[in-house]
Amino acid sequence: MDELPGEVEALRRIPFFQDLTPEDLSRIATIGERRSFAAGEAIVSKADVGGGLFVILSGSATVEAGGKAHTLGPGGFFGEMALLAGRPRSATVVAVEPVEAMVLEAMYFRPFLIKNPSVAVTILEGVVERLREVQDRIDAATEDQG
Ligand code: CMP
Repeated sequence: MDELPGEVEALRRIPFFQDLTPEDLSRIATIGERRSFAAGEAIVSKADVGGGLFVILSGSATVEAGGKAHTLGPGGFFGEMALLAGRPRSATVVAVEPVEAMVLEAMYFRPFLIKNPSVAVTILEGVVERLREVQDRIDAATEDQG
């Protein structure tokens, strides 16, 4: 418990968590699990069932989706698709360098979003940006064909 204030400070510096109240940051520090991954390690694997939401605290990871590799750095998040849709993982996410992540387990995810709309909006913005990027590439490829 003594470590909590330092942990809370560290979380507050991650843009993903910046709008949370000190109480909610404490809660994340309590219910979230800090996990480390080695370079080259698969953090989540396509088609896996279960697992949580990952927020990168340090390091970077890559995900191949829609025919392109995307790199996610500190503050980047992944794992929301399986949680929101109740489906298996849509892609494999691999650590490109050592990664430290805060993992929010599935059972906490929805209640946490409902209590913290700013986090829900951050996730929504990220998902829209990803959808848009894939859509733009499909449109460009379709125009090339026509
Ligand atoms: P999920 O399906 O749970 O597991 C794989 C994750 O990769 C997925 O959630 C998203 O968080 C992430 N992901 C999927 N597509 C993209 C993308 N185009 N850009 C960045 N991340 C993505």
